[in-house]
Amino acid sequence: MLSYRHAFHAGNHADVLKHFVQVQLHLYMNQKDVAYTYIDTHSGAGVYALDSFQATKTSEYDTGIGPLWNATEVPEALKPYLDLVKSMNPSGKLRYYPGSPYVADQMSRLEDRLRLFELHPADVKILNDNVRKAEAHRAEQGERARGKRVIVEHGDGFQSLKKLLPPPSRRALVLVDPPYEVKDDYQKVRDALNEALGRFPSGMYAVWYPVLQRMESRQFPDKLKRLPAKEWLNVTLTVSTPGPDGIGLHSSGMFILNPPYTLEPMLRETMPYLVQVLGKDSGARFTIETGTQITGAAGLRETGAGPRAPVGNARRASPLSGKGSLRLPGQSMVREEDKEKPAAAPAKPRRAWHPDGSAGAKPQGGAQDGGARSARPAAADSRPARTGSPRPAGPRQGGPRSGGGGKR
Ligand SMILES: C[S@@+](CC[C@H](N)C(=O)[O-])C[C@H]1O[C@@H](n2cnc3c(N)ncnc32)[C@H](O)[C@@H]1O
Repeated sequence: MLSYRHAFHAGNHADVLKHFVQVQLHLYMNQKDVAYTYIDTHSGAGVYALDSFQATKTSEYDTGIGPLWNATEVPEALKPYLDLVKSMNPSGKLRYYPGSPYVADQMSRLEDRLRLFELHPADVKILNDNVRKAEAHRAEQGERARGKRVIVEHGDGFQSLKKLLPPPSRRALVLVDPPYEVKDDYQKVRDALNEALGRFPSGMYAVWYPVLQRMESRQFPDKLKRLPAKEWLNVTLTVSTPGPDGIGLHSSGMFILNPPYTLEPMLRETMPYLVQVLGKDSGARFTIETGTQITGAAGLRETGAGPRAPVGNARRASPLSGKGSLRLPGQSMVREEDKEKPAAAPAKPRRAWHPDGSAGAKPQGGAQDGGARSARPAAADSRPARTGSPRPAGPRQGGPRSGGGGKR
C-alpha cells in the first residue's frame, strides 16, 4: 500500500522530534574522523514545501516547526536543527521543511555515504532529482567525493538494509521511519533490526514510531527493548491529550539502539522546552527511558509532566546514570578524545533541495496527488478544518493509523 505521502505531514511535532534527534546523532557521528554510512530505509521525498497543496491541506506544521520557527530562548542543543531549517529559508519566511535525507546530506561530511531507499515512485523521483542536483552543485564548488556519496534506490528499505551491513567503514547510522500504514510495519521494523544487529551489532539504529492506543503501537517500544542491542534509549514527545475519538497523532517516539552517551543528558535539557513550546494542554509531556539489553535493566529517566508513564519492562535504575560511562556503540569506554571534543557545528548550509526536484521551488504534487490522501490522520491540534478533516478515508486505507490515529 503506497497511499502515504509525507508531504501531508511535513514539519509536524513528530518530524520535529525525529529530525532534531537525527541532527544530534549526526553531530555525534561527526566527532570521529572515520567515515560512516547513513542508511535511510524510508526516505520520503527529501524536502517539502509548506505552502504546497498537501501541506496546507492539513497544516500539520502548525503543531511542530510552526511554533518553533519564531521561538526564543532556544536551548543550545536545538539550535543546529533550527539553523538547518532556517538555512533552507533564507528569506526568513518558513516555506521549506527538510526530510531526513536532506538532514543527512547537510549534516554528514564529504567522506560519509548516504544510502536512501524509497518505494513511492513519485517521491523517489523527487529525491533522486534533488540528490543529483545537489551532487552537481557540490562538484561545481570543487567538492568531489570519492565514489558515489549518495545513492537513491527505488526499493524496499526493510529488505535492503541487510545488504548494506556491515558497512565498509564499520560505522553506520540507520534511520527506520516507515508509515506504519499497515500493522505489519511494526513487525517488519523488528525483524529488519534483529537481522541488522546480527550483521552489525555496533551500528546506531534510530526508529521513529507513533504512540497510539492500538495494541501494536503500545507494545512496540517494549518489543524493541528486547532486541539484541547493548543499549537503548526511548524518548517520546506528547503534545496533547488524545480526544475520546482517538483521532489524530498526539504523541510519537524515537527509539535508538546503541545511542550516543551524549544523547540522554542533551534530551533531558531540551525536551522540557519542546513540551513548553509545542504542548497544547496538560497532557503535554515527554518521557526518556534508557536501558541495556545485556542486563535487562532499564530505567525511566525522566518524564516531563503528568503522572509517571508506564515503564514497560523497566525494573531498576539505568546504568547510564551518573557520570558518562560507556555509551559509544561497540566500545566499552568513552574515549578521551570523544569526551573532549565539542560537538561539531552543523555542516555549512548547502544549496537547498527543492520539493519537486527542480531548481525552482514548485510545490510537490499536482493533479495526480489531488486525491492522494494520507492514510494517517493529521497530527493532533494542527490547524483544523481549513480544508476538512485529515482523517483517513476508511478501512481501505486503514492501517493502524486509521481511526486510531495515523503517523503524523
Ligand atoms: C514517514 S515517510 C518518511 C519520511 C522521511 N524519513 C523523513 O523524515 O523525511 C515514510 C516513507 O516510506 C515510504 N515507504 C513505505 N514503505 C516502504 C518500504 N517498504 N521501503 C521503502 N520506503 C517505503 C513511503 O512512500 C514514505 O515516503
